[in-house]
Amino acid sequence: MSPDLSLELCGIRLEHPILNGSGTFDAIAAHRAFGDAVDERLPFSAYVSKTITPERRAGNPPPRLYETPAGMINSIGLPNKGLEGFLMEDLPDLVRLPVPLCVSVMAPSRPGFAALVERVGQRDEVAAIEVNVSCPNVKSGLIVGEQPGETLALLEVIRPLTDKPLIVKLTPNCSDPAAVARAAAEGGADAVSLINTLRATGLDPTTLDPWLGATSGGLSGPAIRSIALDQVRRVVAQVSIPVIGMGGIETGADALEFLALGASAVAVGTASFRDPAAARRVRSELVSELVSRGLDRLPSPHVPSTST
Ligand SMILES: Cc1cc2nc3c(=O)[nH]c(=O)nc-3n(C[C@H](O)[C@H](O)[C@H](O)COP(=O)(O)O)c2cc1C
Repeated sequence: MSPDLSLELCGIRLEHPILNGSGTFDAIAAHRAFGDAVDERLPFSAYVSKTITPERRAGNPPPRLYETPAGMINSIGLPNKGLEGFLMEDLPDLVRLPVPLCVSVMAPSRPGFAALVERVGQRDEVAAIEVNVSCPNVKSGLIVGEQPGETLALLEVIRPLTDKPLIVKLTPNCSDPAAVARAAAEGGADAVSLINTLRATGLDPTTLDPWLGATSGGLSGPAIRSIALDQVRRVVAQVSIPVIGMGGIETGADALEFLALGASAVAVGTASFRDPAAARRVRSELVSELVSRGLDRLPSPHVPSTST
């Protein structure tokens, strides 16, 4: 019998534990190019939108991508249509997807976050909100996600504004992500997700100038997987809310490592750029991994024995 991959995450029933990393799978562009077949074969059990901001953003100057050994650096810089553009143009497109929708939000200020959470939270089509305090390309997000006090203060503002699950996406670019995770949990977050990209720079080999238009960006892909595993391990030991693990997942064995460390679910990011169906393969490989270990379900998420 095939192992049971289903789970409940923040009160939302999911068919399996594989989500997409925000900003790494454009379901709207994919539908435009390939039609309804893409939606029907969506490899994720829930869809996380690209991060939206209060105002429209053009993103960073090109070039925005730099290939590294076992990874890539991006300095995309959150191009998006802004809150109103998202609600009017993108949300009607995304409700077509056959899975729960999680909208990722980020703002340069607490009132900005509050406006996003309140307006997005009013929409029945939205199952959950991911609060991106971690993007290395926008200064304000970095400050919030680097500091437990800032994260708690943000949660105190936005938690009362919605009953929808709030998932706080942590940054790896700080000395103690577990302390920030504890602050998020204390502020009423329903889950945390990690890791976002690691701040990184690549040089043009000829001119030795920074390659990226924004000078630096965020590293993702297999190069960051062992860092992600360690940060997930440290966070699951310190919070009792669910943890969504990501960072360089390319195979079912990779996904199982995050789940074995106590993550409740995982996300596939950079791997989807090379192969948009990568998450489907990850899922079938995860089934094989469980079967080969004689397991009929996912490992149980870790619950720490103390809250410290
Ligand atoms: C091109 C690109 C764009 C991304 N955009 C976002 C974003 O809009 N919001 C966000 O929270 N994370 C964003 N991320 C981070 C991913 O969601 C993920 O946390 C990170 O890439 C680690 O996973 P991976 O190694 O599997 O890609 C982006 C990553 C990449 C590579």
